[in-house]
Amino acid sequence: MSQAEAETQEQRVEALHKRLAENALGGHWQPRERQPALVPHVWPWPIVYECLMESGEVIKLGHAGDAANRRTVQLVNPAITKLKSTTRTLQMSIQLVKPGEMAECHRHSAAALRFIVESDGASYTNVDGEQMIMEPGDLVLTPNWTWHDHHNRGKEPVVWLDVLDVHLARYLDAMVGETYAEGEAENDNYFDGTSQIVVHEDGYCRRRYGVVRPASAHVDSRFLPYTYKWRDTLAALEAMAAAGESDPYDGILLDYTNPLTGGPTMPTINCRAQMLRPGEETRSHSHTGSTIYHVVEGAGVTTVGSEKSGCADLAWGRRDCFFVPSQAWHSFTNISKSERAILFSVSDRPVLESLGLYREEQA
Ligand SMILES: [Fe+2]
Repeated sequence: MSQAEAETQEQRVEALHKRLAENALGGHWQPRERQPALVPHVWPWPIVYECLMESGEVIKLGHAGDAANRRTVQLVNPAITKLKSTTRTLQMSIQLVKPGEMAECHRHSAAALRFIVESDGASYTNVDGEQMIMEPGDLVLTPNWTWHDHHNRGKEPVVWLDVLDVHLARYLDAMVGETYAEGEAENDNYFDGTSQIVVHEDGYCRRRYGVVRPASAHVDSRFLPYTYKWRDTLAALEAMAAAGESDPYDGILLDYTNPLTGGPTMPTINCRAQMLRPGEETRSHSHTGSTIYHVVEGAGVTTVGSEKSGCADLAWGRRDCFFVPSQAWHSFTNISKSERAILFSVSDRPVLESLGLYREEQA
């Protein structure tokens, strides 16, 4: 190709790019902006808690004036601070409801769950009329489009982890929501316009739709309000530890399953509890799906990355939260030689699995 021909070619390419851009088109060969890679991160509990308690002093809860309808401190991945997201799909936040307070009733297309960190047992979330008592370590599910309001009838603050698939719902342009007063204004089945009355006592869904249930129960719904009590989860972990049933990559590992389907906790979010025995060091693996951890007990280190990509050691202690990005190699070490460590985790793995995008590699 002569120089003149090359120049003509370059001009034609340039003209083509201009024409493509003017007509909302693009060439596959042209560069595109890439999303920033999410980074592994630890949110130490003391600073999260201090900020949360300060928010309790300065942020009012309610629906009037400058009050917030929820008082939560959000965990934000440092790579995407402008989005205020923990991961691309999930949001983990820490919520505070002070004694005597109520977080008003609403519902939304994003699914939500709560893992209780601090409670004197006198708080509850009302989910579609069921009074779900919140005790430390309990997991309370608020499936998408279920009405929910939170009440603290105790003497101590109630604090829990909120996890929602809100960023996935937004990405899919599927996020909608409404307050109870809007949705049920003509219905007399509410009081004071902001919260539901209790129709079912605590445990209704566990009895109605648990593994032993009425033969007549309708079991066709995957969206099940449900409470997993910590006493049951801990007993299962301890029984597995006693039996030596351990996973080489995660230690003693439990899934919170949907009792109707046997599948993941929720269609978009899976929850797990894992125990690392004193001094335990797991092998490393990587898989698709973003995972956020919360330390229920103990202290340890999660090594994220590989020799090739570079490693980061996430050091964590009781109640800290930390994040392991999708496809990152990771392993766990319980640094105590005498105390066990217990982690609660949430991930978007069901989304990856349902789309055929889940894959795992093991060292
Ligand atoms: Fe909500």
